[in-house]
Amino acid sequence: MEVFVRRLPKVELHLHIEGSLEPELMFEMAARNNITLPYQTVQEARDAYQFDDLQSFLDIYYQGANVLITERDFFDLTWAYLLRCKADNVIHTEIFFDPQTHTARGIAFDTVINGIYHALRQGEKELGITSKLIMCFLRHLSEEEAFETLAQAEPHLNRIVGVGLDSSEVGHPPEKFQRVFTKALSMGLKTVAHAGEEGPAENIWNSISLLNVSRIDHGVQCTQDPALVAELAKNRMPLTVCPLSNIKLRVFDSMENHNILKLLDQGLCVTVNSDDPAFFGGYMTDNFLALTRALNPSKKQLVMLTRNAIEASFISDEEALNLNSQLDEFWLHHGDDS
Ligand code: HPA
Ligand code: ZN
Repeated sequence: MEVFVRRLPKVELHLHIEGSLEPELMFEMAARNNITLPYQTVQEARDAYQFDDLQSFLDIYYQGANVLITERDFFDLTWAYLLRCKADNVIHTEIFFDPQTHTARGIAFDTVINGIYHALRQGEKELGITSKLIMCFLRHLSEEEAFETLAQAEPHLNRIVGVGLDSSEVGHPPEKFQRVFTKALSMGLKTVAHAGEEGPAENIWNSISLLNVSRIDHGVQCTQDPALVAELAKNRMPLTVCPLSNIKLRVFDSMENHNILKLLDQGLCVTVNSDDPAFFGGYMTDNFLALTRALNPSKKQLVMLTRNAIEASFISDEEALNLNSQLDEFWLHHGDDS
């Protein structure tokens, strides 16, 4: 089963590029940018990655991002992630970036997006990995600051497929961003939002009705409300689930108790994603392996998770056909009815 999981073609839809910053690269960037880190060694940094909840993670995550200064830094960060995608058989990825984490430190929006975008283009050319870019608003900041960020993105609309909403969910519900999401939609952008990670099922309902989202990031708290689960199944509203993240941030007390396969079996369009792999103990293959060891899925269920991600992605019908045929080819050689 492990070989099957490693070789399975994968599609990632929930990855914060700043959350893929490994401590080794963080130290390299700190040295070349003359930044002092609160850690002496890579090991000390890794040892500090122990979290009680979302906020305790976010504090350390924003701190790590302080080493990202130049366009080259954003390029190197993204390129390192793409090499991990290649190793994990990720064939398509839709990644988040948090411009406000950087513009608040005086880094130009253009520096951030140029570095990330050029790495993505090179990844397509040299690694054959296709990608899309989603800009997130930090929900602990104001509506006004989100509008300013959207304005900064205007010259780059051809490089951004949509907007998202991340950071502290509790206390910052989706309705706070209804107007800026309406504006984004009017500019031709898709919308997604983190909801039902730590927050209530109500945040999922409101992200759908007020923010018009095409998918829900996390969404695992939907089980608080059976009517919501039924609605998500009926509409095939995708959930970008992040198994290792949920364990590290104590959304579930153990992987054995994770609800991803239950939701899959109820007909929901659930997908597997790595969220912030440098902080949560692994990339796509690690997430698939962890849930496989704990929940013992069939090969059919594992393939369905990628099938769902293709359905949930923002690619064209033609690109989806291509990815699905890669998955069919894989199934032909590695599938059986176990
Ligand atoms: N939740 C909310 N905000 C985030 C996350 C997350 O899992 N990762 C990075 N920013
Ligand atoms: Zn996330």
